[in-house]
Amino acid sequence: MRRELLAWYEHYGRDLPWRAPRGKIADPYRVWLSEIMLQQTTVTTVKPYFRRFLERWPTVMDLASADIDDILHGWQGLGYYARARNLHQCATKLCAEFGGRFPDTEAELKNLPGIGVYTAAAISAIAFGNPANVVDGNVERVMARLYAVKEPLAKCKHEIRQLSAQLAPRTTRGRPGDFAQAVMDLGATICTPRKPKCMICPLSRRCIAYQEGLHETLPSKQKKVPKPLRYGVAFWVINQNGRILMRKRPNRGLLGGMVEVPSTDWVTEQWSIANAIKIAPLKGSWRILPGVVKHTFTHFHLELLILAANLKPVDGPAGAIWVLPEKIENYPLPTVMKKIVGHVLKSG
Ligand code: ADE
Ligand code: SF4
Repeated sequence: MRRELLAWYEHYGRDLPWRAPRGKIADPYRVWLSEIMLQQTTVTTVKPYFRRFLERWPTVMDLASADIDDILHGWQGLGYYARARNLHQCATKLCAEFGGRFPDTEAELKNLPGIGVYTAAAISAIAFGNPANVVDGNVERVMARLYAVKEPLAKCKHEIRQLSAQLAPRTTRGRPGDFAQAVMDLGATICTPRKPKCMICPLSRRCIAYQEGLHETLPSKQKKVPKPLRYGVAFWVINQNGRILMRKRPNRGLLGGMVEVPSTDWVTEQWSIANAIKIAPLKGSWRILPGVVKHTFTHFHLELLILAANLKPVDGPAGAIWVLPEKIENYPLPTVMKKIVGHVLKSG
């Protein structure tokens, strides 16, 4: 299977901007940057971000000396902003402790900010050619099918890791980096979550799920925990200079350090307007804008009602950032906040 997968990868592997030519070892900086971006984000979305980052910060040193706000700004739209902070911290640490070079062992890589088990294995294999067990969601699905593992993935992570370890090359000559990416590409293009294309799969003769007609049913689904719905009220204020009231979120936690339209806490009970107004950032006469803004985070759905006021504060509440609408793109605004801006501008 190893040989067949590598042969398939020669012809059908994807040409991605962070990859070296087949059989060659890739630049660790590019591998690391792409792997961090690809955590939780699709290849299609990542490509333009990867190109822009590389153009703007061509080396680890450039990234380490960059301003974190510029990095966050460049990250806008990729989501999971802790990754951008870790990126900067990791670059800083590499420069301070490793002379700007990446260590090549999984153990050392795992000690760096933002690099977990999967990413350490991926970098070690792809950028250094070390044998490693590179297991992400795609790989889990492919393994579950190849070996017809019938329990839901969450229940058999360990078994799947073992199967993957058995299949992965054990020497540098076995091209561990290409192998890992071959499994990922197979998972992304052939052994897809729904309707896998077994008819053109290089492994179909050996795939137990296919042989048993289980390719469309494995991996087994497990019941999803429904995401709770949370409610918040956002406060839309324009001052006499036409600037929007915004503020910076705390560095820690969800959307840490990003800029936001002020709002109440996001809680499981709907807010009464009276209670929301009590904690509005400014005193004034608030009106309810029609409609709600909806956004889904990893662990909950959010519905925001918007209260608007035209006020004449000179400099407003502590921590206020007054933003001209045409300058909004200069701030690290998460998607949910862009939705608020879009909603208000639409509803007037
Ligand atoms: N997903 C995460 N890392 C990847 C890579 N190196 N190639 C393709 N898909 C990926
Ligand atoms: Fe996936 Fe089908 Fe190939 Fe098996 S034969 S690995 S199920 S695409």
